[in-house]
Amino acid sequence: MTQQILKVRVAHKRDEADGICSLELLPVPGVVMPAFTAGAHIDVHLPSGLVRQYSLCNPPSDAQRYVIAVLRDPASRGGSEAVHASVKEGDVLEISAPKNHFPLATDAKRHLLLAGGIGVTPLMSMAEQLSAEGANFALHYFARSATKAAFTQRFASSAFAACVHTHWDDAPQEPPLSLADVIGTPQAGQHLYVCGPKGFMDAVLATARAHSWPEDQLHFEFFGAQVVHDASDATFTVKIASSGQEFQVGAHQTVVEVLHKAGVDVPIACEQGVCGTCLVRVLSGVPDHKDMYLTPEEQEANDQFTPCCSRSKSPVLVLDL
Ligand code: FES
Repeated sequence: MTQQILKVRVAHKRDEADGICSLELLPVPGVVMPAFTAGAHIDVHLPSGLVRQYSLCNPPSDAQRYVIAVLRDPASRGGSEAVHASVKEGDVLEISAPKNHFPLATDAKRHLLLAGGIGVTPLMSMAEQLSAEGANFALHYFARSATKAAFTQRFASSAFAACVHTHWDDAPQEPPLSLADVIGTPQAGQHLYVCGPKGFMDAVLATARAHSWPEDQLHFEFFGAQVVHDASDATFTVKIASSGQEFQVGAHQTVVEVLHKAGVDVPIACEQGVCGTCLVRVLSGVPDHKDMYLTPEEQEANDQFTPCCSRSKSPVLVLDL
């Protein structure tokens, strides 16, 4: 599958908070930037050759303009560092067309948006869209402090400022507000969206599930996940259904590495089980899911997996390739 590559110019690079910068991307002459919906992200091809996903945080009504925000993460594998240190105004970058694995539920009556730190980016775009539609929503923004939170001015001066509730660790509310207070029990037609660091998202989703939120009312997007390798990772075989070819995947290899070496094309982007780009259907065998992309129900169905990071519990995995 060949991805559409767009050339864009970095029109503005701004500091948005401690360690967070934003890039405003405009088309180079002759390029038409596709429209997007709230929750969409783009792949950014960095000059170093890395490909990273960043959510669009501007209103979807903006034509021919994408804005992303990037947290400088000391633990990153080079993507955020490259954006902060090397990308400058006037540079031309290659990006993918927007893709949306985190869309708003079209039939929702009320939307509850929970942002942790830099996870505010897709939710910012959602808040803009919901506000423009006159929808019923609230956005709760959690961060260590106001100085580490991007877009606080933009929120404060927005038409939906009254729908935004900030929670800074260094300015606790009195009485303290818990996640359970914010999330509560689900109302009919109410949908919850969460994006942020893994610990935050795990806490939000665990709280929601403990309060009986149905899975189809929970929407989440992980990013920058750490792929878990464990000592029990063993060798297994993947079989290509169309050709019958079989390949051994060693304990320290990924399925994608082995397939690419053998000339079998599987598109990849994040290589961390976050974006879903590499998703492949599984025809038989039991995957050992290590991704953050599939829902628990989708993982339990065992009919698809992310070969960039997931492995196999059975000796053989037959892939629909
Ligand atoms: Fe992103 Fe596999 S490449 S989930």
